[in-house]
Amino acid sequence: MTGKTLVLGQTLTFQADPFHAPVEAAARHDPAGAVLIENGRIAAVGPAQALRADHPEAAVTDMGQALLTAGFVDAHAHYPQTAIIASWGKRLIDWLNTYTFPEELRFADPAYAAEIAARYFDLTLANGTTTVCSYCTIHPASVDAFFAEAQSRGLRAVAGKTCMDRNAPEGLRDTAQSAYDDSKALLEAWHGRDRLSYAITPRFSPTSTPDQLAAMGALWAEFPDCPMQTHLSEQTDEIVWVSELFPDARDYLDTYEAHGLVGPGALFGHSIHLTDRERARLKEADAALVHCPTSNAFIGSGLFDMHGLGLDGHRIGLATDTGGGSSFSMLRTMAAAYEIGQLNGAALHPAQLLWLATAGSARALRLDDRIGSLATGMEADIVALNLASTPAIAQRAARAEDIWQALFPTIMMGDDRAVAQVWVAGRALH
Ligand code: GUN
Ligand code: ZN
Repeated sequence: MTGKTLVLGQTLTFQADPFHAPVEAAARHDPAGAVLIENGRIAAVGPAQALRADHPEAAVTDMGQALLTAGFVDAHAHYPQTAIIASWGKRLIDWLNTYTFPEELRFADPAYAAEIAARYFDLTLANGTTTVCSYCTIHPASVDAFFAEAQSRGLRAVAGKTCMDRNAPEGLRDTAQSAYDDSKALLEAWHGRDRLSYAITPRFSPTSTPDQLAAMGALWAEFPDCPMQTHLSEQTDEIVWVSELFPDARDYLDTYEAHGLVGPGALFGHSIHLTDRERARLKEADAALVHCPTSNAFIGSGLFDMHGLGLDGHRIGLATDTGGGSSFSMLRTMAAAYEIGQLNGAALHPAQLLWLATAGSARALRLDDRIGSLATGMEADIVALNLASTPAIAQRAARAEDIWQALFPTIMMGDDRAVAQVWVAGRALH
């Protein structure tokens, strides 16, 4: 886009991680703020009056009392599960076999993959999510469909071909060699093109032979600047199964570690039932953990130790995990993170929840130098939140004494109706 746009509203900016700095020091609120957008980037953030005086030529978009924040970053999702979200009544392995694998088989058809990719981005953008890190299916065309759709919308996005060579139905299995070859070809076609990154994606240890995990490790060693995503310690019966499949492994993480899949740039979805060794090793490796709270409640997986791991200094992202997760909304996901925190005895502050959904997830994806913050030089992926989007939220927010009390009802009760406007690389969508 050409020219300058000055967006007016309330602004919240983070100076530090609110898990490690007091909220007053970590976050700054300006009730009459503004964000200057130029050439798809944030050119300035500051008081509206001063920025208007300094940039009289800028087109003004006045969002009134809406809260301007960085667009949401969903650090773990399965776009192919869009159409089976909210499927009733199974635990993880049953749920995969009953709902997920049959649906993923349909992505052998590139036209179906393209239809669902378009539907998926319609839903995530309506919810204010401007970057997702998604699994695709084993079909290379499912990756092409996802990236082509993201690219046509100017989105920053991360994804990879999901690799599985055992314990999956006929039609959803590749081999160690074909997974390596297909992943490498897709990586070479898409990684670093426009705003896209390729993630090396072994689904999880139960569906990969040691040979396939080794092939993924070899590929990652060749392309260490690519992220690597997989699942770790989601359900207790899954962990028992992993110990049977890998009798020599010290623990679940070791099944990845033994094949070169633990290091900076790794993203471990769920990571709920970790041993002390796993926690220490993940931290030492500076690998990222991804908290998927609606999914963990929906599939009955358990309570992720957000507070403890956050204080320990782990790199942690927040994610919907659609369609194991029950929502496309990162607001709903923040609410679930709050509820799971409460069940764990730690009330996460609204600043921590918003930080996780933006800067924290961007940091988990190692994209925090580009997205996740309202700050000069960042790509202009921005959301305007209406903090009074429903009568129930409005009547509670009317009593608020500070920005956190004003925001929290939208975190707990808000949905796509709260998303007043979304900018992708500076371009307004609505
Ligand atoms: N573990 C392996 N695959 C999946 C998946 O698709 N969803 C969830 N929630 N867990 C998984
Ligand atoms: Zn997942």
